Amino acid sequence: MGIMEKDIDHVLYTEEELLRRVREMGAQISKDYADKNPTMVCILKGAVVFYTDLLRSIDVPVQMDFMAVSSYGNKTKSSGEVEIRKDLSTSIEHKHVIIVEDIVDSGFTLSYLSRALSARGAASIAICTLLDKPSRRAPGITLKSDYSGFEVGDEFVVGYGLDYAEKYRNLPYIGVLKPEVYSK
Ligand code: IMP
Ligand code: MG
Repeated sequence: MGIMEKDIDHVLYTEEELLRRVREMGAQISKDYADKNPTMVCILKGAVVFYTDLLRSIDVPVQMDFMAVSSYGNKTKSSGEVEIRKDLSTSIEHKHVIIVEDIVDSGFTLSYLSRALSARGAASIAICTLLDKPSRRAPGITLKSDYSGFEVGDEFVVGYGLDYAEKYRNLPYIGVLKPEVYSK
């Protein structure tokens, strides 16, 4: 058993299940955006693995761009403050934007980002998330994803880009961490 694998309690989605769902999402986006040349904004770092699989499942022209945000304090504070650490390198004015995120938890990150990007004059903003934890949504946040891969319960998941303390991002599947890994 691998050094990372021994920290995993159980696998939620295998590599094959992830790819099958990501391909469905890509096919839907290809249909919906056939003549729109959307800018697909990858939210670093967690979404990067999902993003690269998703892009290769889309068979219409798209633009790539990247953003890094830190939703600092969102686990302890309820202010939901989000800071942009790395901004887009292209203009999104009059562009159709698809924000690609790994997981929606409280919803603070994506509700902030969709407001911020729409204020820059985007023609439209859509949200595409691999995972959604609807039970964790913060009070007052009503965030609806346009594309959502899987709903997960209130448990901490890692792999396929998602981390715990910057670890496990390179696991090819999504799994639930053993509780003792947190309490170390
Ligand atoms: P939100 O602003 O609370 O929706 O925060 C979403 C961010 O929290 C995601 O982009 C992840 O970085 C992180 N996050 C939330 N739940 C998990 C999880 O179960 N595993 C790994 N990261 C998570
Ligand atoms: Mg993230």
